[in-house]
Amino acid sequence: MTAPGPAARVRVLPVTDGGDTVPAETVVRDQLQDIPPRLPPWLGYDDVGSRLFEQITELPTYHLTRVERGLLERHAPEIAELLACGRIAELGSGSAKKTRLLLESCLRLRETAYLPIDVDRDILCSSGTALVEELDGLEVTGLWGRYEAGLDWLRANARGPLAVLLLGSGFGNATRGERAGLLREIARTLPPGGGFLVSADLDKDGEELRACYNDPPGYSAFADFRLNYLTRLNDLYGAGFVLDDFVPRAYYNAATSTVEGVLLARSDQEVPVPGLGITLRIPRGESLNVGYSVKFDEGRLVDEVEAHGFDLRARWLDDIARYGLFLFRRRGEPTDAFTGPAGRTGTSRTR
Ligand SMILES: C[S@@+](CC[C@H](N)C(=O)[O-])C[C@H]1O[C@@H](n2cnc3c(N)ncnc32)[C@H](O)[C@@H]1O
Repeated sequence: MTAPGPAARVRVLPVTDGGDTVPAETVVRDQLQDIPPRLPPWLGYDDVGSRLFEQITELPTYHLTRVERGLLERHAPEIAELLACGRIAELGSGSAKKTRLLLESCLRLRETAYLPIDVDRDILCSSGTALVEELDGLEVTGLWGRYEAGLDWLRANARGPLAVLLLGSGFGNATRGERAGLLREIARTLPPGGGFLVSADLDKDGEELRACYNDPPGYSAFADFRLNYLTRLNDLYGAGFVLDDFVPRAYYNAATSTVEGVLLARSDQEVPVPGLGITLRIPRGESLNVGYSVKFDEGRLVDEVEAHGFDLRARWLDDIARYGLFLFRRRGEPTDAFTGPAGRTGTSRTR
């Protein structure tokens, strides 16, 4: 019998309203009514937002993607061995270009199924197709929806060993309370012994971070990406935002070690959002928050994750400790179905 061709090895399933996921409209309405108003990160990712994010990753001043890729290029075989699992889910997979490095190493060890979760259906289709064309034997089941719905699907379709990835420093795009909620959901989804690989940008000089999160001269990827949130509100909820009325920017808040991406109002704004039944008022000089990027202290990250039923197994930092990959293991005795090696904790710094 011949092996199935690439097209037969990729499918994308909608999981948009799975489980007890709060409806998207409710989340957006509630966050717009926060003080200061904000928007959830996932709202910005349609095909335009995803394309702009890819442009951001190529900015000469944006180190995150390059450093993470370097870490995966060096350590993917070791990570794949420690994950010891043939079912790999990923939260917010995007283009999955870096994930390919890890999946390639996983496939050298065993049959591998990849389950990316993302709100952008187009990117799930294109990344899934590219992966199965490049990686012989890989099976891809894209889960189209928000993290909670994807994790809910994984619980409903449990098949023994599972690992969860959260790359691209996506963990830092949530508030502390949201991160706790997400860790609870991941812990509920992973069987004992299951691996959780999370990357984090580590705290550093405020000037360097300001340069990293604003466009260098001649580029507009960050500005366009932030303004796309207004376009999304106009398209999805019939809002009346005029993009030119806002200045996109990023600030570093040293008190909270957080880069905040904002849209500053050039004049007093009173904008109806009929699809959400609200009118948003933003005085001149005040802002709408369109993205947090928390910068972690290593110990704080480890404590935060371990508090939710995980143990650190290994971490990999770049040569100047700008960025790290952290592999945790879901606490508890693995069942017979779990074939992972006994736990060990290690730290390595790439030189
Ligand atoms: C910052 S990009 C990172 C993409 C990729 N992981 C990388 O490292 O290049 C975040 C991705 O996560 C998706 N995303 C963000 N929040 C999400 C959520 N709550 N549920 C599902 N997808 C989400 C976005 O659509 C986007 O593709």
